[in-house]
Formats: sequence, C-alpha cells, structure tokens
Amino acid sequence: MTAPADGASETPGLEAEPPSEPASDPEPVAAAGSRPRVIAVANQKGGVGKTTTTINLATALAATQKRALVIDLDPQGNASTGFGIDRRARHLGTYELLIDGAALADCLVPTGIPGLDIVTSSMDLAGAEIELVALERREYRLRDALASASLTHDYVLIDCPPSLGLLTVNALVAADSVLVPLQCEFYALEGLSSLTRTIERVKRTLNPEVELQGVVLTMFDKRNNLSNLVAADVRDHFGAKVFDTVIPRNVRVSEAPSHGQPVLIYDLRSPGAQAYIHLAGEMLKRERSLPA
Ligand SMILES: Nc1ncnc2c1ncn2[C@@H]1O[C@H](COP(=O)(O)OP(=O)(O)OP(=O)(O)O)[C@@H](O)[C@H]1O
Ligand SMILES: [Mg+2]
Repeated sequence: MTAPADGASETPGLEAEPPSEPASDPEPVAAAGSRPRVIAVANQKGGVGKTTTTINLATALAATQKRALVIDLDPQGNASTGFGIDRRARHLGTYELLIDGAALADCLVPTGIPGLDIVTSSMDLAGAEIELVALERREYRLRDALASASLTHDYVLIDCPPSLGLLTVNALVAADSVLVPLQCEFYALEGLSSLTRTIERVKRTLNPEVELQGVVLTMFDKRNNLSNLVAADVRDHFGAKVFDTVIPRNVRVSEAPSHGQPVLIYDLRSPGAQAYIHLAGEMLKRERSLPA
C-alpha cells in the first residue's frame, strides 16, 4: 500500500511570506465556555467526502440539541446547495465575511433544520484566494470574524475547498481542530503529508492551538477488499486518531444533495445517515473524555 507521498501543491500564502502578524499575537477570542468549538473539515484531495461530512455531521449534532453553524468556504458552494439554499437567497456569504469584513451575524442563514445555520458561499469566493493576499491579517480574516461575533452555537464546522490555499489556511487558523475525511481508495494517503505539514506549520506560526481532531474513513465498501486494506493502512498510520465509525458508500448519501437535504433528513434509516449519527456520538464521547 502507498506510503504518504507528496505531489500536491503547498500553501502559497503560507510558503511565500511570513505571517502578517506575529505568531504569539493572535486576535483575542471570547472567554472560554462561550466560544463554539470550531472544526475545519479539510483535505486538499477533491471528492473525498468533506462536504458530505460537514453537512451530515452538523445535522447529526443539531439532532442531539447542539447548535451548529456550517461555514461554506468552498467557491463550489456544495454545502450551501446541499442544504437546499437557492443561489438567489445567498446575499451575504463567506466572500463578504472575508473580504468586505461583513459581520458574521448578518451572514447567517437558517437551514430550516432547528439549531443549524449556515454561512453560504458563492462563485465570488474563487477570487478571494487572490484578493486575500493583499489584505491585512489575511490568514486571520475568518478567525477575526468568528472572534468578533457573539455566537450561540456549540459547534462551527468549516467546509474547506480541495486546496491548501489561503481559504483553507483561514479555516486552519480559525479552527480548534481539523477533521480529515479520507476516501477508502488506493491513493487515500497520497498527498496527506502536505496536509499534515500545513497543519503543523499553521500550529507553529499562526494558531498554536490547532489539533488534528481525527480522521474519518468515507465511502467504505465492505465487499471491496481494497477498502479493508486502505482502512487498515490508515489506522496503522494515524492510530487512535482514526474514528471507529466508518461511513459506508451508500447511494442515499449521494442522492440527498440533489434534493437539497442532508441524508439524515432525506432517509434517516439509511446506513449513511446512521453512520453520521454514530460519528457525531463518537466525536462527542471523545471530546467528553478529553482533559478540561
Ligand atoms: N458515503 C457516501 N456514499 C456515496 N456517495 C458519497 C458518500 N460520501 C460522498 N459521496 C458522494 O461523493 C461525491 C464527493 O463527495 P463530497 O462532495 O462530499 O466530497 P468533497 O471532498 O467535499 O469534494 P470537493 O473536494 O469537490 O469539495 C459527491 O457526489 C457525494 O455525494
Ligand atoms: Mg466539497
């Protein structure tokens, strides 16, 4: 099986120049206790289940009475579409939040699911990668937006784009932790060293608190021997960081977005929906067992 290899391009904003602010001086955040836990869902590889995991984990958390906020940080806007938010209803979104300094409170859109809001994205966000370069505190824009909002949410889940550019760096700088979805396929681990190095570099320079929350195996097919081999390989590599819960490949999961619904709403009894409910339960249990 493959050892983690490189090949993916690395963070331009991070590699090219030093951070725009000293590492020891991140913007102060609200007092502990009132602040939501911020989780970046990241993997620069495309199509591994980042958006599906963001949508359904957030929905599962909301179902357990946790208030959740999804931030769609991908210009593709799949998380926004996956909640059925029409493009015409996306007025202020992540572009305005990051580039224009819009207040987070003005960007919140209810998803229709109790306790679950979203900040939507639009194609404008594609230009933000470039526009951010010239802005002050370019790596801290999302962190600053979150810090200056008084949110009532327990969790913020950030759906990252499939790249390690400044949008993903903004997510990593804003986050307490990073959740990495890994698709059970032959090249699953390829390029992951770029992601882990980026997380380490952000930790050293921009956000000392960021940790790897965990790795979640997605699109697992138990009839496929390769899925089992990949799962064993990933567990070998990441050990206890890999969630016991595995998300199966399930057609209901892939159908749900075209109905503008999380699979938990589209078909609660499906194996995919049940797996995301388990994942949320496992995550909450792991967090409770962490030292305070
Ligand atoms: N468990 C699953 N079973 C079946 N299909 C799935 C599953 N998880 C995700 N998919 C499908 O796989 C495709 C990629 O998933 P998703 O969009 O979540 O990946 P992504 O990492 O966000 O992609 P991108 O990098 O483009 O943002 C989608 O069509 C999605 O519906
Ligand atoms: Mg996506």
